[in-house]
Amino acid sequence: MSKESNALVSEELPNTDAIGVRTEKVATEAQPQSSLFPTYARYPLSLVKGQGSWLWDDQGKRYLDFMSGIAVTNLGHAPQAVAERLKKQIDELWHVSNLFHIPGQERAAALLTANSSADAVFFCNSGAEANEAAIKLARRYHQKVKQTSRYEIITFTQSFHGRTLATLTATGQDKVKEGFLPLPAGFKSVPLHDQAALEAAISENTAAIMLEMVQAEGGMYPVDPAFVGVITKLCREHGLLLIIDEVQTGMGRTGKLFSFEHYGIEPDIFTLAKGLGSGFSVGAMLGKGYLREAFTAGSHGSTFGGTPLAMAAVQATIETIIDDKLPERAAEMGEYLFHSLQKQLGDIPFVKDIRGKGLMVGIECAEPVAELVLAGQKKGILFITAGPNVIRLLPNLYVTKEEIDQAAAMIAEVIREHVA
Ligand SMILES: Cc1ncc(COP(=O)(O)O)c(C=O)c1O
Repeated sequence: MSKESNALVSEELPNTDAIGVRTEKVATEAQPQSSLFPTYARYPLSLVKGQGSWLWDDQGKRYLDFMSGIAVTNLGHAPQAVAERLKKQIDELWHVSNLFHIPGQERAAALLTANSSADAVFFCNSGAEANEAAIKLARRYHQKVKQTSRYEIITFTQSFHGRTLATLTATGQDKVKEGFLPLPAGFKSVPLHDQAALEAAISENTAAIMLEMVQAEGGMYPVDPAFVGVITKLCREHGLLLIIDEVQTGMGRTGKLFSFEHYGIEPDIFTLAKGLGSGFSVGAMLGKGYLREAFTAGSHGSTFGGTPLAMAAVQATIETIIDDKLPERAAEMGEYLFHSLQKQLGDIPFVKDIRGKGLMVGIECAEPVAELVLAGQKKGILFITAGPNVIRLLPNLYVTKEEIDQAAAMIAEVIREHVA
């Protein structure tokens, strides 16, 4: 709408309600100087440099990073192997349209399929976009290949699958849906580990079941293997596709390259983002070969999906993870972290549970932990929450035993001071 076409509106409406009209710029209390939408409740820190497990703020203070950009910088900050590949690619070619063959995309996809149960990859830019692609592929497979009208995706309460309209509808947490009505049709959430509810939710419209193997945002709950058995059996019996959201759990974090490997299953579709590019924004949706015929030319796409630059980051990341045996390392260091936390926190009644998989650990506390995050930052350690009462730890996969002991000691100090 042009500014002129709104001239009449501006006379009738108060300035603050005017749409498309130039209004006086007012600093808000929440973001006094910022030109950004206030979509994030930001911590009072500006981080400006990172190396390995460490970050520095703009005052020169150093922090032990036990959150890794929420499971993104799995190789630590500024990993040499990825930096070198990106620098080389920057001098060669940044972007070409997906209307052309992109050799780096073929190589990255071949690396992913050679190291997983998937046969085909679609590259995109984020976790939400990868899940969106998974939802679209599941619907299109049933509708175009199987010639049915199935469309519904069943997900689980407390899950998190992203912030696009489809993925926030798939997400089993109401807080991400507030104010965004009407939501797209075709999604149902049932409580995790509730077989009867899952069975009751399946109908002739069901296309797929989608889940995280460790519910991360939902409180760091690994899925019970017996329940995974129930899900795979129901998928087989009803002809449903199984979609695993590996956006947070993937790329070695849980002690396997992909967390579904712990359960001995092969999903029809799985999704990646976060650790896939070591901090370069990239996502991927991977599927079994029989799904190829559902995603034919023109059925899906993304301008920035799989650019040469993103693919350089992906190739270097996967090669490093495999060459340096980082899933095995994550399993070993995850055990060490678990025991170190038990040693330091085991006798504090405020701590109710320590759980997780590999280097994806939750410490459930008796009360909300938001203040503990800030207290940790003052001490020089960064961690985040997973739901109100859970401290979430996501160190990088090269984390050392010394850094783990240091982190566990600082977290114990933060909790003891909070309780006192
Ligand atoms: C399991 C899971 N799925 C999907 C997403 C969405 O990813 P993105 O923020 O890259 O869109 C996230 C992000 O936290 C996630 O943890």
